[in-house]
Amino acid sequence: MHQFIRLHIISSLLLLIATLAFGLLASWAFLFPETYNQFLPFYQLRPFHVSAALFWIISGASACIMHFKNDAFGFTNQSRALEKLYIITWIGTIIAIFTCYAMKQFGGREYWEFPPALCLPLLISWVLLMGSYFLPWFKSAANQPMYVWMWSTGLLFFLLTFLEQNLWQIPWFRQSYLREVTIQWKANGSSVGAWNQILYGTSLYLMVKISGNENIARGYPAFFFYILGLSNLMFNWGHHVYNLPASSWIRDTSYLISMTEWVFFIRMVQGFKNTLDTRRRYRNLITYRYLIASEFWVFLNLLLALLMSVPAINRYTHGTHFTVAHAMGTTIGINTMILLSGFSYMLGIDNIKDKAKKLIGTQYWICQYSLGVFWFSLIAAGMIKGYMLTFQGNTNFQKVMLYVSKALTVSSIAGAGLLISIGTIAVVYIRQAITMVVKEQ
Ligand code: HEM
Repeated sequence: MHQFIRLHIISSLLLLIATLAFGLLASWAFLFPETYNQFLPFYQLRPFHVSAALFWIISGASACIMHFKNDAFGFTNQSRALEKLYIITWIGTIIAIFTCYAMKQFGGREYWEFPPALCLPLLISWVLLMGSYFLPWFKSAANQPMYVWMWSTGLLFFLLTFLEQNLWQIPWFRQSYLREVTIQWKANGSSVGAWNQILYGTSLYLMVKISGNENIARGYPAFFFYILGLSNLMFNWGHHVYNLPASSWIRDTSYLISMTEWVFFIRMVQGFKNTLDTRRRYRNLITYRYLIASEFWVFLNLLLALLMSVPAINRYTHGTHFTVAHAMGTTIGINTMILLSGFSYMLGIDNIKDKAKKLIGTQYWICQYSLGVFWFSLIAAGMIKGYMLTFQGNTNFQKVMLYVSKALTVSSIAGAGLLISIGTIAVVYIRQAITMVVKEQ
């Protein structure tokens, strides 16, 4: 692993720690606005937290691709130079974004609330990453396994959705509020589909490496999974525009597609688990455990998403913490677990000292239980609000929030558990990235 990729891994893990810390602060600012409004109000902490979360996922995914592609189809001198340029511009722009937030300079649109001029270096940076990836890919053998196709598709579609997200900068798109919001929400939904392609590709790659069975990434099941992922990123945005006027068949189709992808992912992981021999499992135990955790969280989020899609339930839950539970349940439970699995494999965490491995093992379980409590209490907060406001027709908002706050206090305590557990794991990984013996490629 070359030094720049290590730098990229370390910066991604720092973003993960920042996500957790800002998330906890944001939850306190939400619960105690009188105290926090004086120095760090919720409106400022939310973009810090959400942008850190998005950049953690996208940076982590690109670090996995950059490292694993060397094994899949190698690199060239040109691609190595582009990789370095990508890492410098990407990290530099993220630092500039957080500096703007600290100076209360906002702009942009939801999830990307920094001054829009900073989208340009992000765009250039992504093109550099694509160059570093596609140059050696085009020179490699034609018959690549499915995970390579998934990475390639994710990279390309992230570029397209990023451009789409920025269409609002052209005045015509801002002339109609509905037009602008439709495109924004659609683009955000497709972006998630794009990074999921990269992450599911990474989990497929890890399953191949752990089991030593290349057939997992070839043949009809893998191809079918790829096609589902592709249709998902093209059409799953339908459920992101739920509240906008649209034909119901668009919503139904998009929901069906996103649910089938998850069902298929669970099937693939189960197939892998059943055929894996015990020796190989123990050799990669930490990497393996995160993959299994992601499968478990896919299952739970599938149930939640199915509930949310029932119109009679959606009527009460929409715009409540139910939706926040869906967003964080998937980004922590699925995306972060797959990334931690990829990082464990890259950094050789299964071969570090037993004491450090034991620490990771303990923190892993604290993380899973904390996430469970965190997730259920957010759902409870959403249900209380939906029940009291919509079902009971309660107009006393303060009274409603009194009950909601109780559930949110539990989620904030569980969030502290997440900060401690995932934070400790991230620190061990950073230390390993700094000290590991590196063979310069
Ligand atoms: C790796 C860890 C985490 C990730 C990836 C993550 C991701 C996210 C995302 C994507 C959102 C936007 C949700 C939406 O717009 O519906 C969000 C919101 C939020 N998160 Fe997290 N989060 C993480 C950890 C935490 C922790 C530990 C806490 C602390 C309790 C927390 C508290 C919050 C709060 C308060 C919001 C704002 C909710 C609102 O607008 O009402 N997050 N998070």
